Amino acid sequence: AEEPLVLGIETSCDETGVGIVRGNTLLANAVASSVEEHARFGGVVPEVASRAHLEAMTPTVERALEQAGLRFSDIDAVAVTAGPGLAGALLVGVAAAKAYALGLGVPLYGVNHLAAHVAVDQLEHGPLPKPSIAMLVSGGHSSLLLVPDVAKDVISLGSTVDDAAGEAFDKVARVLGLPFPGGPYIDRAAAEGSGTAVAFPRGKYDDGTLDFSFSGLKTAVARWVEAKERAGEPVPVADVAASFQEAVVDVLTRKALQACRRYEVEDLLIGGGVAANSRLRALAQERCDAAGVRLRVPRPGLCTDNGAMIAALGSELVAAGVAPSPLDIPADSSMPV
Ligand code: KG4
Ligand code: ZN
Repeated sequence: AEEPLVLGIETSCDETGVGIVRGNTLLANAVASSVEEHARFGGVVPEVASRAHLEAMTPTVERALEQAGLRFSDIDAVAVTAGPGLAGALLVGVAAAKAYALGLGVPLYGVNHLAAHVAVDQLEHGPLPKPSIAMLVSGGHSSLLLVPDVAKDVISLGSTVDDAAGEAFDKVARVLGLPFPGGPYIDRAAAEGSGTAVAFPRGKYDDGTLDFSFSGLKTAVARWVEAKERAGEPVPVADVAASFQEAVVDVLTRKALQACRRYEVEDLLIGGGVAANSRLRALAQERCDAAGVRLRVPRPGLCTDNGAMIAALGSELVAAGVAPSPLDIPADSSMPV
């Protein structure tokens, strides 16, 4: 029998994402983002995000169906991000998914956003080796996960104790006068600078845990820039961006490989928006090659929040025979992995 067609809905932050998959085959991935509405506030405003999801939901579902050349009645199951994320934003997606599942008479799967960031890689690189280590780095999360089975068993090994990696990129970009979200701008500016120009601190570098800390680094960059400005000297933006970026990706790749060693796992997956960072991709590849670890990084459009990742995990749950969710599942903003 053919695998079921799964519609996935993502609304945990500022992207309204709708994806459609069959097994590991990606059929549609429509995303509407409210990022421009948040830019002038320098961060995502929850109320603005919720309202934008509400407006974007129906057109984005229609766009996904159109991309896939399908009709509503073709859908066999609906998956939706139930958490973690912004409470009001999650509610919009969960309410829509319930309505679609009920109206179509198909099962509903409430899924974990972090596990979905892992599952999405299967759409690009095929079945995930069991077990894998996954590192998720975005504006909202920085986690190391041991993944024996993405549908049934995902174990948190460590996470940030303060800022998420992407949050640190965004805050440092602001200090350097770069637009929001700052990650891509830092990435671009860094290409013209030297990663060894300024020796910024590397939080939790050698503490034996698999946790991260980025707020000390962010503060160190801000102090360094302030001192330059106070002295009336120009701020070498490219060098600061490159040195900050080097500090972040040094710690990230080091801890990811420590996790692989500690759990004797030979497959590492990196996902989330920060996985689009060119230096992170390069250093991760270099260190994985040296350690004999295979690296998987989905293409950028699958790393940032999207609906295909939710559909991919929903598809895994169906295949694993996991029971669907009741139609009254809540949105859980602090859902653990
Ligand atoms: O996964 P994502 O789209 O949304 C969530 O936060 O869940 O990630 C967005 C984050 C932002 O903080 C953005 O600055 C960062 O990913 N980002 C990058 C790059 N592209 C996006 N950070 C560093 N380098 C990049 N090239
Ligand atoms: Zn995410």
